[in-house]
Amino acid sequence: MPYLDSSLKLDEIPVGESRCVTLGDLQVGLFHRKEGLFAIDNICPHRGAPLHDGMISDSGVTCPWHQWQFQLTDGVCLNIPKVRVASYAVEVREGAIWINTEDQGAIKS
Ligand code: FES
Repeated sequence: MPYLDSSLKLDEIPVGESRCVTLGDLQVGLFHRKEGLFAIDNICPHRGAPLHDGMISDSGVTCPWHQWQFQLTDGVCLNIPKVRVASYAVEVREGAIWINTEDQGAIKS
């Protein structure tokens, strides 16, 4: 799957903040932490809350509606580990954010 231009520049998302971008049928949450930029599906699998409106912490993002937590690295739900949202690879090219909309899958440990 090719990378798609998110139409956002990295300097439009300060560290500690997040944004939602629409790419085709997908809503992708972009989260900028000091460790880097992360992209996961923005729709919470519980009841559909927009995850980019959640609280970002060291462990991931907390859903704004019922507080399920998701890891930003692989989309795994910390409350119910067999639940996850898709996670996507991100590249920054000359300041512009590009997203590969193919699900990276859960990170194997
Ligand atoms: S909608 Fe996200 S935890 Fe309920």
